[in-house]
Amino acid sequence: MNETEINRIAWGKLSKEHFEKFNKDLKSGTKKLNPQVEHQLYDLNGLKVLHLQCNTGADSILLAKLGAQVTAVDFVPDNIKFARELAKENEVSIDFICSDVHTLDEVLDDSFDLIITFDGVLGWLFDLPKWARNIYKFLNSDGKLFVHDGHPYYLIFDEDLIKEGILNVKYPYFNAELEVHSTIGGYATEAKEAINHFRSHKVSDIINALADANIFITKFVEFDRCDEGMGGDTKDERGLMYLKHFEGKLPVGYSLWGTKR
Ligand SMILES: C[S@@+](CC[C@H](N)C(=O)[O-])C[C@H]1O[C@@H](n2cnc3c(N)ncnc32)[C@H](O)[C@@H]1O
Repeated sequence: MNETEINRIAWGKLSKEHFEKFNKDLKSGTKKLNPQVEHQLYDLNGLKVLHLQCNTGADSILLAKLGAQVTAVDFVPDNIKFARELAKENEVSIDFICSDVHTLDEVLDDSFDLIITFDGVLGWLFDLPKWARNIYKFLNSDGKLFVHDGHPYYLIFDEDLIKEGILNVKYPYFNAELEVHSTIGGYATEAKEAINHFRSHKVSDIINALADANIFITKFVEFDRCDEGMGGDTKDERGLMYLKHFEGKLPVGYSLWGTKR
C-alpha cells in the first residue's frame, strides 16, 4: 500500500465523527468559514467553484451558501457519502466527487472561476507538480486559485515546546522527509490512532510547482494566526488562534492567489 492509500484509510476513520460534529455545528450556526478565508473572498454569487480536499463538505456548504455553484472533492469514500448527506440536510446542491486530487483529471473534465483549498491541505499531497498541473487544467481562462494553509516554516518546530515559548527545530525545512505519524485529525474532533504520512513542502516548492505549471502568483500573504484547530494556543477576539509567545513574530499561516498565465 502506498502513502496515499494509507492516508485514505486513516482519514476514513474520522469521517463519521466529522460528519456528526459538522452537522451539529451547521445546525446551530456555529460552523463558520475561517474568517481569514472569508475576508479575502470576493462575491461568489453564480461562480463555478472547485473546492479541493473538502472532507465531509461543511466548508463546501458554506461556500454554496455564499451563492457559489460548488464542485467539491475528497479521496475518502465515506467523506463523500457524508458530505452528500450534509448537503441534503442543509438544502444546498453540490457536486461531490470522490477522487485523489492528483488524479482528478482522470474523472473530471470541467473548468472553474475559482479553485479553493484551505486549512490543512498541502501536507497531505506528495506530488505538488501534478497537483499544480491539475489546477491549471481546471481553471478557466480568467479563473483564480486560492490556497490558505499552515505556514511551512511554523511546521518545522516541535509542536509541544512551541507552546512553552521554546523554538526547537524538530523537522527539517529543507529536504523534509515523509513524516510518519501515529495519530490523525484533532482539528474538529478528537484525534484518532491511525498511521499516516505527512510532508511539509517548503514555500519555494509550492510556488515553483505552480510557476512550472504556468500559474502566475498574484498575491502571497502571511499570518501570525490561523483558524481554530489548525495551530496556535491562544484565541483572539475573532476566534483565530495565535501563539502567545510568538504573536506577531512567527508566520503560522499563509494565503496564495494565482491565475492562469
Ligand atoms: C485537514 S482536512 C481538510 C480540512 C477541511 N478544510 C475542513 O475544513 O474540513 C484534509 C483533507 O484532505 C483530504 N485528503 C488528503 N489527501 C488527499 C488526496 N490525495 N486527495 C483528496 N483528498 C485528500 C482528507 O481526506 C481530508 O478530508
